[in-house]
Order: sequence, then structure tokens, then C-alpha cells
Amino acid sequence: MRAVDLFAGAGGWSTAAVRCGIEVVEAVNHWPTAVATHQANHPTTRHTCASLHGYDPRRVSPAPDLVLASPSCTGHTRARGRERAHHDEARATAHAVTDLVDAWRPDWLVVENVAEFLLWDRYPAWRMDLECMGYRIAHTVLCAADFGYAARRRRVYIAATRTSAPIRLPVQPLFSPRRAVAEVIDWSDPGEPIEGRFGATTLAQIEAGRVAHGRRFLCPYYGSQRAEARTDPVDRPCGAVTTHDRYLVINGDHARFLSIPELLSLQGFPPDYLLCGTRADQIKQIGNAVHVGMGERVLKEIFSQVRDTA
Ligand SMILES: C[S@@+](CC[C@H](N)C(=O)[O-])C[C@H]1O[C@@H](n2cnc3c(N)ncnc32)[C@H](O)[C@@H]1O
Repeated sequence: MRAVDLFAGAGGWSTAAVRCGIEVVEAVNHWPTAVATHQANHPTTRHTCASLHGYDPRRVSPAPDLVLASPSCTGHTRARGRERAHHDEARATAHAVTDLVDAWRPDWLVVENVAEFLLWDRYPAWRMDLECMGYRIAHTVLCAADFGYAARRRRVYIAATRTSAPIRLPVQPLFSPRRAVAEVIDWSDPGEPIEGRFGATTLAQIEAGRVAHGRRFLCPYYGSQRAEARTDPVDRPCGAVTTHDRYLVINGDHARFLSIPELLSLQGFPPDYLLCGTRADQIKQIGNAVHVGMGERVLKEIFSQVRDTA
């Protein structure tokens, strides 16, 4: 099966697809740093660094069997804050997907996004566009922590096909053993002494964390502007990996941010996954990515059924 990865980013979707035996023939993204990362890890894929608005579908011939896409989620996510003009632009990236599906008519389309994508006022029209092209569509909203991963990540997975195969998607397990984020953290690296490093609000937050959890815990960190009272225990999954440094690992009287290998691991990437750019670029790529383990589960579920009925 030949796939194209649209909004390929660092390659969460592509890595999951390769694990399922799918050949990713083309990856498209407009951010050169993410393209460089994707290229370093998927050297046999062809890369196009360009906006998907105006991308020429004739670049992929013959047309792919599968389109993987995770259009920009910044216009949908609840974390976006006040509505701004560029949010509409970000949401419109989903139309590039339907335009290319229209041109290629692949057997399958699989889209990942924040769950709020389903609440987008143009989602019914987006979905109807696909139905008018002859696709049947199903979706599921899943959280990675329910599947034994050490961070929460709630995402919608939308599958569409114009074949007659049933669309089977993973279902939420009735009982899910929770993986502790502590298992992913390298406790041998305690970081720097806390004393003298943080402002009064963060110090108060850390103090409250000590009372609640003891010596080791996670402290969500937003800089001096938006300090939160919350701290998180390490004996359960942590919150979602974001596109910024977010979690301070408190280890006694030392602290550091979650490291790049830890963040990669929380997103299901192999620890030796290569990342280009600055540390901030790398965190953005990891935070943007499709959770590799979840992507793999979704694709396995869909395509094992296809093979069964073939
Ligand atoms: C949610 S991330 C994709 C993550 C990727 N699927 C992965 O698993 O690593 C969205 C990506 O789309 C890129 N992007 C946003 N708008 C774009 C556009 N108009 N054309 C091409 N790429 C775009 C962003 O730079 C970002 O890397």
C-alpha cells in the first residue's frame, strides 16, 4: 500500500505507517525544519517542502492508495485562547485534504486531529464533501493513556474509504492499566538546584507539590505570567505533551524540564528518533506529532480488517 503523508511534520503518522508495512511515498509540509527531520528518519520517502494550498496532485503518480493527514489543529484546540484571524486560516488547512482526495480518489483517508475538530462549524460540510465523492466515514476519539501510554493525548481519528471494506477503528478498552510517567523519566538526571532559579509563584507551587506528592512530582510551568496551583503525581500518566516546555520534573531539591528523549518516548517515538532544529523546534515537532503508538494501533485495526476481507 502506497501512502502520502500530508502535514507530515516530524513524522508521527509516517513512522506508524511504516511499522504497519505501508510505504510512505511522499511527505508534504511547509516548515523546512520539520521536513529535514522527516527526511532524516524517512530517507526513502520523497519530500516536498511547500504549502498544501496549491500543491499539485500530479506530483504523485500513480495516485496513492492511502492519504494520511493531520491538518493544523491550532484553530480547533481549546487551548488556542481568544479567537484570532489566523485560526480560521489554520482550520482551512483541512480543505487542502479534501481537495487532494478529490484529485487522487485514494481507497483510504485517515485523519488525526484534536477532538474539537468534530465541533468545527464547517466539519459537517467537510465530511459531506467526502461523502459526495463516494466515501464512507467513521471516527473515534481515543486517549493514549487508556492504551497504556504514559501521557494523556485525546485525539479524533477519522477514517474514510471508497472501498466496500468495513471501517474498523480501535475501541476504548473497558479496563486500562495506567502507565506511570515515572517509568519514562530518567531520574539519574536530577537537573539544577531549585533554589534561586524560580519566582515566588513557582516556588509556592513546588512547595504545594511537595506537600501533596513528596519528593518527586511534575510541576506544570508557564513562566511567571500564568503559574498554576496544580502539580501532578508521577505514578500515573501525565498530561498531553505540548508544543512548548511545559513540565518541570521535581526531584527533591532539583528540577529540570522533561528531556527530548522523554518527550519522544511519551509520544511513542523510538528514543533514537532524529530531530532537527533548536530545542524549541524539537519540542514543537514532538508536541505536534501524531502519537506513534496510537497511529500504529489505528492503522493496524483498519488494515487488518481490510486484509481479512480481501
Ligand atoms: C499537526 S502537525 C502534523 C504532525 C505530523 N502529522 C506528525 O505526525 O508528526 C501540522 C503540520 O502542518 C504544517 N502545516 C501547517 N499548515 C500547512 C500548510 N498550509 N501546508 C503545509 N504544511 C502545513 C505545520 O508546519 C505542522 O508541521
